[in-house]
Amino acid sequence: MKRVLIIYYSQSGDVTRAVESLTKCLKTPEIQLSWECIKPKADYPYPWSLYKFFDVFPECINGEHPEIFPPKFNHNYTFDLVIIAYQVWFLAPSLPIQGFLKSEYAKVLQNTKIITLVVSRNMWHSASETMKKMIAEVGGIHIDNVVVTHQGPPLATFITTPWSLLTGRKNRLLGALPPAGVKDEDIDALSIFGERIANHLTKTDCSHHSMLAGLGTVEVNQRYIIPELIGRVIYHPWAKIARFFGQQGSWSRLPIICLFAVHLLFAIPIVLIVSNLIQFLFAPLIHKKIASYVELLKSPISVG
Ligand SMILES: Cc1cc2nc3c(=O)[nH]c(=O)nc-3n(C[C@H](O)[C@H](O)[C@H](O)COP(=O)(O)O)c2cc1C
Repeated sequence: MKRVLIIYYSQSGDVTRAVESLTKCLKTPEIQLSWECIKPKADYPYPWSLYKFFDVFPECINGEHPEIFPPKFNHNYTFDLVIIAYQVWFLAPSLPIQGFLKSEYAKVLQNTKIITLVVSRNMWHSASETMKKMIAEVGGIHIDNVVVTHQGPPLATFITTPWSLLTGRKNRLLGALPPAGVKDEDIDALSIFGERIANHLTKTDCSHHSMLAGLGTVEVNQRYIIPELIGRVIYHPWAKIARFFGQQGSWSRLPIICLFAVHLLFAIPIVLIVSNLIQFLFAPLIHKKIASYVELLKSPISVG
């Protein structure tokens, strides 16, 4: 009997649907599945209010995670595989998932094979790198990463994702834009990876190698590498300053959070234009660096 622990957190159901599809083929008599939905002690009500949405930004970037309620999985078990399914919040793993990884309960990951499943609008690079580091810090063996992004053209998701986060609705906005969230076909396609995982688990060999190699579980859109890197650089000072003015939920930091939100409205188009210019003007100079960063993003192992 192989034991698999599935750790996840989900608000709109995107992450839940994705991890359910990924693990559908693991429901066999030879595999015992334990599901663990992370419950943070802090409240992140969904749909979000506009202010609450921006107010979690400093903590996401600074890694100031909430405490979590004790998980119910059996702490005496050693698992053959742990699957961590999470979403991106402000270029970082969501706060509840950071809360789990920084808690005493993350000991379960030590010397254990881990597959991550990351769901986001489409900017997941930094979060994925942060996740690799957190897994390494707790002694986990990160063997594979699976990336799922929202449907529709990336520019349209700048409207559809915030719309769904603030209203809780995923319908076609104005009848013209694509629905928000992950496409059903992309969710269904994850079950192919699950088949491969099930095959590997039921084999006796217990190597620490990838189970999903060659299946294209991570597709990197190079156009988002520079915007994400710039975004990460811009976010850090804002997060530090906002935190200086107070904790999450405190009135003292309301002006700075509002200023950050307004600044984003202008920063996003400027960053996109600057990134395109850098890519166009310096293509021959940065080509090699971008290619090696793509390889890093595709690998579950973090460097440095
Ligand atoms: C506070 C917050 C911040 C977010 N920041 C990002 C981001 O930086 N990059 C991104 O691609 N998606 C971002 N998203 C979108 C979520 O990752 C996406 O909606 C995901 O599908 C949510 O999954 P869930 O509804 O199952 O929790 C953010 C969502 C929230 C709520």
